[in-house]
Amino acid sequence: MTKEEYFNRFLPPHLQAKDSGQAYAPANIALSKYWGKRDAALNLPMNGSLSISLGALGTHTTVIAIDAPQDMMVLNGKNISPDSAFYRKTQAFIRLFRRGQTPSLLIESSNTIPTAAGLASSASGFAALTLALADLWQLDLDSRILSSFARIGSGSAARSLWHGFVKWQKGEAADGSDSYAMPITSDWQDLHIGLLEIDTAEKSVSSRDGMNHTVATSPLYAPWAACAEADLQTIEEAIANRDFHLLAQTAESNAFAMHASMMAARPALIYLQAESFRQIARIHALRAQGLPLYFTADAGPNLKLLYLAKDEAEVLAAFPHMVAINPFA
Ligand code: DP6
Repeated sequence: MTKEEYFNRFLPPHLQAKDSGQAYAPANIALSKYWGKRDAALNLPMNGSLSISLGALGTHTTVIAIDAPQDMMVLNGKNISPDSAFYRKTQAFIRLFRRGQTPSLLIESSNTIPTAAGLASSASGFAALTLALADLWQLDLDSRILSSFARIGSGSAARSLWHGFVKWQKGEAADGSDSYAMPITSDWQDLHIGLLEIDTAEKSVSSRDGMNHTVATSPLYAPWAACAEADLQTIEEAIANRDFHLLAQTAESNAFAMHASMMAARPALIYLQAESFRQIARIHALRAQGLPLYFTADAGPNLKLLYLAKDEAEVLAAFPHMVAINPFA
């Protein structure tokens, strides 16, 4: 099935447009990662994943019908050129929703994620855009369908429709209709996240290219996928039992397993930098001294620390530049 066919299955033949639509979606950090697709066009993952959303750090998006020859896009107050990759990717995604002739749109997005956090905004971006378009065109669709739409924009966006812990089940159906994310009920105020910037320069290999390369060439890919499914279950149990050590230790091990699968790709794919490893050694030294401090890392050099609220002052003393977050605030 193509993505056009998938959208056509759920959208009405004619859109009932309002003048504008708007939405907010939080960024998210995977505790058990998505790394590898079984279907590239539909963005279907090889394994399920589980994330925690970052509350007020995310993307606000407004879409307004305008009288203009083509769509206009403004990101963080700056006009985006129609020649840019961002414009083309966004427009290709919006085209999936459009039923024939719809008026041009002004798409205005702003990220509340500090640039210094070194955090990707594509997950919250595609989630906020999906919700804003659903608002504009008054789509009366189940949130599971909207999550699967956001997934087609960017896999991790499927999880950014909700706050708190979110699980994206890999699904079994060939059309991807059962590959969506749903929230896990929890109000774990003690669990805090720290964003530790190592390097915020744009990475040279995107997550998309990186995971495709890992699936195609890494002898450690199959063991990674099996490990990811087991870690997902362990983290769900840890959430149910509020077991911080089990959750954080599993998330850290899961990140190392994902990075190991990339490093074993041919040629190797290495996102962590020397400075990442220097800070990981500091985290491990603090932990050896008794501080319950763990980390995870995505397809980049930056670290996301996991710790308990009671230890925030101590963690900030060790990492003064860290951005501290209570995801359940
Ligand atoms: C390492 O969702 O950015 O952050 O589906 O190709 O757009 P595409 O990839 P993307 O990959 C995220 C990878 C990750 C792990 C995760 O968020 O689960």
